[in-house]
Amino acid sequence: MKRRDFISILGAGAAVASTPALGNSWFDSFHKNVQAQPWMNAFKTVNQESFNSTAVGIRGKMPTDLRGNLYRNGPARHEIGDFRYKHWFAGDGMVQSYQFTDVGIQHQAKMIETKKYVAERQQGRALYSGFASTPPNPAPVTSPDSVNVANISVLPHNGKLFALWEAGSPWEMDPDTLETKGLHAYSRETRGLPFSAHPRVEPDGTIWNFGYASAAKKLIFWHINATGVLVKVGAVPCDPISMPHDFLVTEKHIAIMISPFHYEGGSDNFLDAHQWHPDQLTKLLVIDKHDFGNPRWFELPAQWVFHFSNAYEENNVIHFEGARAPDPLEMTERIPALMQGTVDRGHGESRLFHYQIDLNKGRASEVALFGPELQSEFPAVDPRVSCRRHHRTVMMTTDRNQPPASHPMLNAVSVYDDRKSDIDTFVYPDSHMPEEHLFIPAPNSQPETQGWVVGTAVNYKKQRTELSVFDIRGVSDGPIYTAELPYMLPLGLHGKFVQSS
Ligand SMILES: [Fe+2]
Repeated sequence: MKRRDFISILGAGAAVASTPALGNSWFDSFHKNVQAQPWMNAFKTVNQESFNSTAVGIRGKMPTDLRGNLYRNGPARHEIGDFRYKHWFAGDGMVQSYQFTDVGIQHQAKMIETKKYVAERQQGRALYSGFASTPPNPAPVTSPDSVNVANISVLPHNGKLFALWEAGSPWEMDPDTLETKGLHAYSRETRGLPFSAHPRVEPDGTIWNFGYASAAKKLIFWHINATGVLVKVGAVPCDPISMPHDFLVTEKHIAIMISPFHYEGGSDNFLDAHQWHPDQLTKLLVIDKHDFGNPRWFELPAQWVFHFSNAYEENNVIHFEGARAPDPLEMTERIPALMQGTVDRGHGESRLFHYQIDLNKGRASEVALFGPELQSEFPAVDPRVSCRRHHRTVMMTTDRNQPPASHPMLNAVSVYDDRKSDIDTFVYPDSHMPEEHLFIPAPNSQPETQGWVVGTAVNYKKQRTELSVFDIRGVSDGPIYTAELPYMLPLGLHGKFVQSS
C-alpha cells in the first residue's frame, strides 16, 4: 500500500463528532456504592504517577529457574476530578513490571504518558470523547493516537517494550524504568495505522497483527520480523465491520471473526457507534499468511468473542478455541454497570468453544467444550506452541455450580488439556479478584510439559495486589509461591512474561 492509501484510512477513522456530556452520574454512583460493595475498590482510580516496592508477605518458595519479568497493563486512571469514565476499557493505561529475582519480587508501575494523559494532566480535566464517555466541552479528536490510552496489553519484543491499545500505534516504554519513550512507527508510511493489542508472536519472534479502521471499513494486517522490522502491511475490505479484539494465526493462514456488532457511526463515542444485530451471522475471514491475499469468508451464528487461545491447522482444517459469549452485552451493559456498582446481571456469559474452519468444504463449525455452568475468559497457551498445535489452555473461570463469590468477576484459574476429560482448577479465596494468568514454560523442557501458571489478583478486602505461582501440573494444589504488594492497583487486563536467558 502507498502512504496516500493509509492516510485515507486514518482520515476516515479520525472524525469524531462532539456533543456535551450528560454529567458525572458514574462518579456519584461509584462513590455512593463502593462502601457497601468492597469489590468495587478494584475499579477505583489511581491518582499517583508511579509505584515501586519490593513485594512483602512472601509464602512458599520461588522456583530457582523462574526468573524474568512479568509486564502487565490495564486501565488505571478512571477519574479526572469529578468525571468518571463510564467504561473499564476507557481508563488511562498503567504499565507494571514484576521482576523475579533471587531475593524476591521487585515491582514497579507507571502511568503511560500518552498525548491524552499528558494533556489532561496539564489541564486537570477530561478533554476527549473516548471509548464510551464524553466529558463536558470535549476537544476535537484529530487522530486515533490523540486519544490512544495504551491500556490493554504489552508487547515485549527484541529488547523493547510496547504498551498496546487497539485503534492506534504502540507506545514504546523503557523496559527497565517503564518511562514512556513515545509513539512507535514500524515505518514512515504506516505511522498511526491501527495496531491491535493482541498480536500473535511465533516461537521464532515473528509478529503478526491486525487493526481495524472502522469508518474506512478495512482490516489492516501486519507482518514484522523477529528483529522488529516491518516485512509487510496490507488492507482487506470488511463491510460491515465490527470491533474485533483478537485474531488467529496458523502455519499458513490468518483468521479473524467479525461479529454482527457493526460500526454504524452516529455517536460521539466509539462504543455507541456500534449496533448489535442478533439476527445476522458472524463472519470469519481467512486470508493467506504470506501475502494477505485470497480472502475467504465463512459463517457462524451471531456471537461475540473477546479472546481466542491459539490456532493450528491439520489436514486443511483450522482449529482454535475462543471464549464465546452469545452477545456483546458484557461490554455494552455489564461493564458500565460494574463501573458504577449497579451490576444487574450475573457472571459474564463467555464459555470456551472449539471451532473448526474446513477450508476444503468451505464450512465453519463450533462446539462448546464445557456446560453453561463453566464461565471462562483470558485463555492462554505455552508461548512455544503459539500458532502451532496446542493441547493445554490456561484460563480464568467461574463454576456456577459452586457457591458464588462476593464479587461479580471470575474467581478461579483452570488448566484445560484436550487430551483429558476434566480440568484442573484453583478457586481463589472470596477476598480475591484474579486477573489474567499465563503459562510460563520451564527452561529446557518440552513444550506444554513443565512450567508454571503465573498470575495476579486484587485482594480487595486487604487492599493489596498479590502475585501467585502454580505448578502447571497441578494448579488445584494451590500456589507454590505467593508475594504481596504493599498496595492495591486497579484490576488490569493483559500481560506478558519475559524469561531471563
Ligand atoms: Fe484483550
